[in-house]
Amino acid sequence: FSTGALAGRNVVITAGPTQEAIDPVRYISNHSSGKMGFALAKAAAEAGASVRLISGPVHLPTPDRVERIDVTSARDMHAAAMQQTSDSDIFISCAAVADFRPETVAEIKIKKDPDSPNEGMTVSLVRNPDIVASVAAKEDRPFVVGFAAETGNVIEYAKDKRKRKNLDLIVANDVSDTSIGFNSDDNAVTLIGADIEEPLPKCSKRQLAGQLIEMIAQFYSQSQEQQ
Ligand code: PMT
Repeated sequence: FSTGALAGRNVVITAGPTQEAIDPVRYISNHSSGKMGFALAKAAAEAGASVRLISGPVHLPTPDRVERIDVTSARDMHAAAMQQTSDSDIFISCAAVADFRPETVAEIKIKKDPDSPNEGMTVSLVRNPDIVASVAAKEDRPFVVGFAAETGNVIEYAKDKRKRKNLDLIVANDVSDTSIGFNSDDNAVTLIGADIEEPLPKCSKRQLAGQLIEMIAQFYSQSQEQQ
């Protein structure tokens, strides 16, 4: 029995990168370490929630009292998120999902042509499903929180993403500063909602996760009161 701000709530969180296979030995991915999403899962569990963490390939231990679901590609993560959010109260999309995947995956390792040493190679990419927008478009949707990793016009682009993807809240993250964002231990963000824009100054991802979970819990309960 827990008395925390999220006691009795089901929270689903995505974290880490996705990997998009080119052939059996190569893939396209990004620099997400999973630290931010795992810190959110830990903070949500500490706030009393029942937490399911859908994680891309990362090297992190699973926080206590968190159920972890490992996935590899964006399509795997999309399927897991759609399934896990069927009975969830809050969905937090912290994963750095690959927007594109190779159109085809070669069944055997792609070889260089020894007779054409100067020839390049072209990989044709197709769009991946948008996971957070798909969850937000569900008929019986949870309270949905997205992230926006931007390298310029951070607040403006984040606001635009919040509206376009129909999210309740979005966490704007300036990833042009390498001391915050991808793979760093610290982060600094701005939490944006319909009527708020709250900067949360630089601190450890663990501390920041605690602040974010507290604020998300507040906005979530306000949204419940309005229903
Ligand atoms: O993992 P760390 O090393 O700790 O780094 C943390 C982080 C920088 C990855 C994290 O703080 C962060 O910003 N996560 C979002 C990364 C991202 O992909 O942002 P985006 O602006 O491209 O996407 C916007 C939102 O849509 C995000 O909530 C993302 O999860 C979601 N998305 C994007 C594409 C897609 N196909 N499906 C999605 O659900």
